[in-house]
Amino acid sequence: MKHFLDIHTTDPADLRAMISHARAMKAARRDRPRGAPDDEQPLKGRMVALIFEKPSTRTRVSFDVGVRQMGGETMVLSGADLQLGHGETVADTARVLSRYVDLVMIRTFEEATLHELADHATVPVINGLTNRTHPCQIMADVMTYEEHRGSIADRKVVWSGDGNNVFASWAHAAGQFGFDITFTGPEPLDPEPDHLAFVRSRGRRAEIVRDPVEAVRGADIVVTDTWVSMHDPQSARERRHNQLRPYQVNEALMAAAGPDALFMHCLPAHREDEVTSAVMDGPQSVVWDEAENRLHAQKAVLRWCLGV
Ligand code: CP
Ligand code: NVA
Repeated sequence: MKHFLDIHTTDPADLRAMISHARAMKAARRDRPRGAPDDEQPLKGRMVALIFEKPSTRTRVSFDVGVRQMGGETMVLSGADLQLGHGETVADTARVLSRYVDLVMIRTFEEATLHELADHATVPVINGLTNRTHPCQIMADVMTYEEHRGSIADRKVVWSGDGNNVFASWAHAAGQFGFDITFTGPEPLDPEPDHLAFVRSRGRRAEIVRDPVEAVRGADIVVTDTWVSMHDPQSARERRHNQLRPYQVNEALMAAAGPDALFMHCLPAHREDEVTSAVMDGPQSVVWDEAENRLHAQKAVLRWCLGV
């Protein structure tokens, strides 16, 4: 049984195969209505539970649509709908869900919940974002970069902002797909050292550069994310905004990166905070392709997990 819990714990050859498969499935659907089924129906007769302990637009809709395109069915559950939110253990929830459904995707506050679910489920579990990582997003992002510019191997990705869960999965991807990563942001919001250590353990560069203009020189991708994540206390909002304002991705920063650099953001974006509209709607931005590719990349992840 194969869980998709994180990029650094998934075999690099399997990750590479999933990206190729996603591109092939995307190509096969070109010019079709969004709701049309795929020619292949590998999830026919399968039921997928999608559990959300916190809000989602892209993850929720892309998983739901992807499963249906492949002939499967979904049920979308909020954390509060389940007994999970009312005292039943995660382990018991995992045992019970495994008797009803063929796969569970979960977005959770605590990474420990994901691991406990996976440890006790007898069906595959997919990570749809935790406080620490967001692997499905970065599978879509690698796919998106490669559609525009070819292989991501040996490229330089620069993250400007909070060293958060989305950064962590970018760092894991750097190690597994073989590219370098630079973090630029305020020291109190540095990423966890483990994530950078993973990149280095795979022979790639992982740097922290405090000056954003210096950091983005030679970047192939400039990427950012919200300054306040869903798991962050709202009380930290003002302090974070003050700390992160120098790391806004704006036209001046993109100019320092150079004309060939792509701009990426997992969305939802807070326009004029972490990124200006001029960049988000500008010629270097591929944010809508990233959002679309969640659908295709996750279809490949689902098929890998289920072996279909
Ligand atoms: N990027 C992303 O995961 O978006 P949602 O929170 O809308 O799912
Ligand atoms: N870092 C953000 C990503 C949302 C997709 C969060 O965790 O809220």
